[in-house]
Amino acid sequence: MSYSVLIQPSGLRFNAEAGRSLLRAAEDVGVVLPSSCRNGTCRTCLCQVREGSVVHTIEWPGVTREERAEGWILPCVAEARSDIVIDVPLAASFGD
Ligand code: FES
Repeated sequence: MSYSVLIQPSGLRFNAEAGRSLLRAAEDVGVVLPSSCRNGTCRTCLCQVREGSVVHTIEWPGVTREERAEGWILPCVAEARSDIVIDVPLAASFGD
């Protein structure tokens, strides 16, 4: 199962397999999102979901319940559960 991910405002798109973090799924196709710890602690990758469903794969990701309610996620430890749109102003593409 894989889901479509659209990154705004750049309009970059890629597919994310179930079981693959959004950060790694992006990197698989040359899309680089801000990151540092890659384990849900540092919040460097913090971004906001505009549409769709995302789950965190660790029990205590570094986002508060309030932030999660507003759609904030940590893509290094999050996976898509539907087609999604996320805001990542600093996303860059090193693909073709
Ligand atoms: S890279 Fe540190 S929380 Fe995602």
